[in-house]
Amino acid sequence: MKPISSFFLLLPTLLLGSAQQISSGGVITPSLPTPAQVTPTPSIQSIIPCNNSPLLCNRPHNNITHIGAHDSSFLRDSSTSNSVAGNQFFNATIALSAGVRLLTAQVHTLSSSDSTLHLCHSYCALLDAGPLTTWLSAIKYWLDNNPNDVITLILVNSDNQPASAFGEAFDSSGISSYGFVPPPNSSNSSSSSGEWPTLQSMISSNKRLVTFIASIPTTTSNSTSAYPFLLPEFQYIFETSYNITSPSQFNCELDRPSLAQSSSKAIQSGLLPLINHFQYIDLGSGIQIPDVSDIGTTNSPDTKTQGNLGKHLMDCKREWEGVSQKPVFVLVDFFDRGPSVEAGDLMNGLLEKDIVGRVKPKSQQEQIGAAAEKKGVPVVALVGFLGVAVVLL
Ligand SMILES: *[C@@H]1O[C@H](CO)[C@@H](O)[C@H](O)[C@H]1NC(C)=O
Ligand SMILES: *[C@@H]1O[C@H](CO)[C@@H](O)[C@H](O)[C@H]1NC(C)=O
Ligand SMILES: *[C@@H]1O[C@H](CO)[C@@H](O)[C@H](O)[C@H]1NC(C)=O
Ligand SMILES: *[C@@H]1O[C@H](CO)[C@@H](O)[C@H](O)[C@H]1NC(C)=O
Ligand SMILES: *[C@@H]1O[C@H](CO)[C@@H](O)[C@H](O)[C@H]1NC(C)=O
Ligand SMILES: *[C@@H]1O[C@H](CO)[C@@H](O)[C@H](O)[C@H]1NC(C)=O
Repeated sequence: MKPISSFFLLLPTLLLGSAQQISSGGVITPSLPTPAQVTPTPSIQSIIPCNNSPLLCNRPHNNITHIGAHDSSFLRDSSTSNSVAGNQFFNATIALSAGVRLLTAQVHTLSSSDSTLHLCHSYCALLDAGPLTTWLSAIKYWLDNNPNDVITLILVNSDNQPASAFGEAFDSSGISSYGFVPPPNSSNSSSSSGEWPTLQSMISSNKRLVTFIASIPTTTSNSTSAYPFLLPEFQYIFETSYNITSPSQFNCELDRPSLAQSSSKAIQSGLLPLINHFQYIDLGSGIQIPDVSDIGTTNSPDTKTQGNLGKHLMDCKREWEGVSQKPVFVLVDFFDRGPSVEAGDLMNGLLEKDIVGRVKPKSQQEQIGAAAEKKGVPVVALVGFLGVAVVLL
């Protein structure tokens, strides 16, 4: 995921001469098994799927690859007039129903006079996806209806708000009761890989929401002790580079936190790897927008071509075989393409027959990228427009 210095624009209909009416709808159905699949026998726990597969129930959370929607609240759909700043075609709960199990977003205060937390893309004046509480309520509703699923959130604390501000938003959405608090030594410990619970254990205790914040101010008085489920991201996670503009740049090297030195050292110290796998088009003048033109290659679960999601994940898994870790968290733009979740299946050793209860998003927007390419104004003109319209970076 990107830090707050990212820079995206709301450019309604600029690239889409004739914006189509596109429904952001999608049916949410619980990923519970159909009655025929459940038999009242002692083996019931191995039949009910956890995160869409019975084979995942008994795996520790950190021995599973969780595919994530990067900037999951920033949509390129009718709600934003197909903003080129949007990172996803479908919203966060549609993503969850499709098999995504990690969501990220940037959290800002609405304005200098209103400290309500909103999900905004770089600036609330550019793309405001609404209050954090509203978004969390929708996710809580999804968790309520999908009792066998464990999900992870990573929220960027763009305006350096205290843990209490986040905690209050979590409380008022009602989602706090799902908050997972890791046992001591899940972070930093060299033996941490054995310490994350299995999905089944998290499901049984109904602590099915793992929440990381980047970053929480750590003064004693504003510590997270009142909200122990708000976990400081970089005490648990290291990330690969997010600043990718060409398929050849995807790699498995540690980017943050730099103190952890290298991927293998980070893994040995118990940090879980997060692979950033999304690509930007650099329009010049420091302007980058999510690259949808290459998305078929970028999100492909294939392992053959440089830039493929499957290849990137497989390369990292091979590189980290010596330290016995596979990619745990993965972030993509336009998650429905690929489909990206199939690259997670590959890492998790799951075949199509092992997957239960995913709901594919409706695909009215399949051609939107191509449409943007065809109908769009020339990039040169766009750069000119941005250059006068907005100061970025
Ligand atoms: C996504 O869209 C569906 C259908 O419009 C809606 O019910 C759901 O609450 C939305 N989810 C989020 C996170 O906004
Ligand atoms: C970890 O996941 C792999 C599949 O990727 C599986 O073969 C292995 O049994 C799992 N280990 C544990 C301890 O669950
Ligand atoms: C956790 O870590 C502390 C300090 O590193 C150590 O004293 C303690 O024994 C550890 N606890 C467990 C359960 O490993
Ligand atoms: C975990 O690591 C962080 C940063 O390296 C350090 O500040 C903290 O004291 C460590 N915590 C424990 C329990 O070792
Ligand atoms: C906690 O942080 C908030 C916002 O940064 C600040 O207004 C408040 O004074 C802090 N509380 C204490 C006790 O430091
Ligand atoms: C991104 O990478 C380019 C080179 O590929 C570099 O010039 C630029 O400074 C980087 N930007 C950030 C924000 O890291």
